[in-house]
Amino acid sequence: MPLTELEAEVSAYAARHVIEHDLTSASTVAFPPPPSFLDDFNRAIRAGRSGYTEVRGSASVRELLAPRLSKMLGVEVDSERNLVLTAGTQAGLFATLAVLAQSGDSVLLADPEYLCDARAVAFFGAEPVYVPFARVGANAALDLDIIEQGLRDGARVVMFSNPHNPTGSVLAPDFLRRLSELLLDADAWVLADELYARFVYEEAQFTHFASIPGMWERTVTALGPSKTESGSGFRIGVLVCPERLAPMLSSVIELMTIRAPAYSQYALEHWLCGDEESVRSRVATYLTLRDVSVARLSKVKGLDVRVPAATGWLFPDISQLASSELETVESLIDAGVLVTPGASFGPSGAGCFRMSFGQDPTTWTEVVERIAEVLTSLASERPSE
Ligand SMILES: Cc1ncc(COP(=O)(O)O)c(C=O)c1O
Repeated sequence: MPLTELEAEVSAYAARHVIEHDLTSASTVAFPPPPSFLDDFNRAIRAGRSGYTEVRGSASVRELLAPRLSKMLGVEVDSERNLVLTAGTQAGLFATLAVLAQSGDSVLLADPEYLCDARAVAFFGAEPVYVPFARVGANAALDLDIIEQGLRDGARVVMFSNPHNPTGSVLAPDFLRRLSELLLDADAWVLADELYARFVYEEAQFTHFASIPGMWERTVTALGPSKTESGSGFRIGVLVCPERLAPMLSSVIELMTIRAPAYSQYALEHWLCGDEESVRSRVATYLTLRDVSVARLSKVKGLDVRVPAATGWLFPDISQLASSELETVESLIDAGVLVTPGASFGPSGAGCFRMSFGQDPTTWTEVVERIAEVLTSLASERPSE
C-alpha cells in the first residue's frame, strides 16, 4: 500500500475508535519538564521578555549554553560563531537542509529515518538515498558500502539520528570513525540529529559525531530539550555548527520563524546544567519500562522485539507474525492502543511498528499485556504456510 494511503487509512480508522493509550509519542504528563524549565519560562514571561531576540537567539542564553555544549560535545563551541537557536530541533534540521541540499542533489539518509527527514529532503528538490542499517542495537552501523557508493555518485550530505529514532539504536564508535574517513575523502557534510544524546542505556557507548577528529568542521549537530526534558511543547532547539555555516543558517531561521520563541529560549537558561541526577533518574525509569516491555513482548511467538539501546521507542518487527502491518495497527486500535506503522519511517520500516514506552509506569504493565494479547491473537489467526 502506498505510504500516504496507509497513513490516511490508519488515521481514519483511529478516528472511528476510542484511543485509550496513544503510544505515538511519550507522555509529558507522566514525565513532565524539570521545574527549572518552567521557572525560567515563567520568569521570562513575568519580566516581559517578549520581544524579538537576536536572530541567532538571545546572546545571553547562547553565552550560558556555549561552555555546556563544549563540554558535552567535546569541541570548542563559541556562542557567537557556532550556535543558532531554532524553533524546535525540527526547524534546525529543515534549515540545515535548506542550506546544504540543493535541487538535484542526493542526500544519504539512515533507513528507517525519523518521519520527517525524507520529506524535508524531497521538499528542497533533492533525492533521498536510503542507507539501511547493517546492525541495529547498542553497536549499530549503517551500510558503509552504500554510503561509499552514494558519495562516489556525488552525494555531499549524510543525515541520521543518533541515538536513532525509531529503532533506539546507537551508532558504534568504530562505524562513526570509518564514516568520518569516507566523509573526509569526499569532502561531505554530516547532519547529526543527536536529540536523544542523553537518553542512552548503560550498555551503549554514545559518541558525538562532531568530536571525531576532522569532523567538527563538517558537522551540524541538532539538539534540543524535546525528549530528555519533555520540552516538545516549548518548540526550542539548538544547532551547533562550524562558523562558515552559521550566517546562512541564521538567514533561513529569520525567513522561517524570524527567531526561535523568546520565552522558550530563556527556558534553556538552566539546561544542561547540574541536571545529571534528574536525567539519570528519568533514564533509569525508562530502562525499567523498556525491560518490562521487552520481557513481555518477547514471549509473543514470531515477534522480533529488537531491544533499544537508547530513546523511549520500541520498533518491533511483525513480518513473521501478522499478514500485514495495517492489520496489526488496526487490531491494536480495536484494543484502544495507537502506534505508528513502520512504513512511515522509510522502506526498511515496512513490517514494523513504532510504540513509545515513555508512559505512566503505574499502568504500563497492563498496557503491554493488552498489546501482547492482540499480537498473540494475530499470530494464532495467521494461516500456516
Ligand atoms: C530524531 C528526532 N529528531 C527531531 C525531532 C523533532 O524534535 P523537536 O520537537 O525538538 O522539533 C524528533 C521528534 O520526535 C525526533 O525524534
